[in-house]
Amino acid sequence: MKKTKTIAVVSEKGGVGKTATLLNLAGSLVINQKKKVLVVDLNPQQDLSTNLGYVPPTVKSKTISEYIYDQLEGVDFPIVAESDKTGFIKHTDYGLDYMPANRNTLELLPRNLSDSEEDNMCIARVLKDEMFLDYDFIFIDCKDSLVAHLVPQILMASDYALPVAEVGINSVFDVSEVIKKINNRYAATIIGVVLNKVTEMSNIAKNILQAAQQEYGKYLFATQIPDRKAQIEQANDLHLPCVIARNVHRKKNTLAGYYTALADEFLEKIK
Ligand SMILES: Nc1ncnc2c1ncn2[C@@H]1O[C@H](COP(=O)(O)OP(=O)(O)OP(=O)(O)O)[C@@H](O)[C@H]1O
Ligand SMILES: [Mg+2]
Repeated sequence: MKKTKTIAVVSEKGGVGKTATLLNLAGSLVINQKKKVLVVDLNPQQDLSTNLGYVPPTVKSKTISEYIYDQLEGVDFPIVAESDKTGFIKHTDYGLDYMPANRNTLELLPRNLSDSEEDNMCIARVLKDEMFLDYDFIFIDCKDSLVAHLVPQILMASDYALPVAEVGINSVFDVSEVIKKINNRYAATIIGVVLNKVTEMSNIAKNILQAAQQEYGKYLFATQIPDRKAQIEQANDLHLPCVIARNVHRKKNTLAGYYTALADEFLEKIK
């Protein structure tokens, strides 16, 4: 029987490439490996939804964030009707499904969270819904920081964590902090840390990479994503993952090969 695996994509620092990694890894799994994948935007910044080309409807409609809100309030008569739920999941032409959230409701949510066990399990309750059963993988795009805005609740509800770290002066520290915090606080298993925006141009960068590899080798994905901003932006402009954008855009998208390798490694690690 298929068992859906839920993966929280997290980082301690902002702007490291969580959304880009999630979208391109998910896209590769759909295109190359024919997996059924859902990506869920639970970051109030909503970059994932924007990068997928989502335009919020002018008519007010319910999203996954109202459903989470509903779980928190514990209302007997849910504000989300069964018929609304079909609209939660959006479909792309190439087979990746996604769930945008309602920014306003999502931003309200943390204020309602308390220390209670029940509140902390709000995402776990939502993920039990039948609409999630059909997927091989559900990736959740989180806000930066492991303690802010729903991230603890998402990590409690997820089978796996996939931290992303940008390779910079502080990256070794980031990697160690993220690994420690997740291992100490949450049951989610770390699949691997993705090193992103990797450049081997400078000696400092080389040293940082070497240090990270020596100390955290067993946690790191062997595939490292190089620093190629123009390619990420081209793909985002087309609302496509790099594995498809490379066939559409005239300029070569060399990141596609890296994300393909990352997806292969991901499947190997998650077996
Ligand atoms: N491999 C890469 N090479 C160069 N630039 C990248 C790469 N990956 C992501 N970026 C760029 O870095 C910026 C941040 O990326 P992204 O939005 O994916 O990060 P994030 O961790 O999701 O950010 P946030 O914490 O705000 O959610 C974007 O401008 C994106 O284009
Ligand atoms: Mg993001």
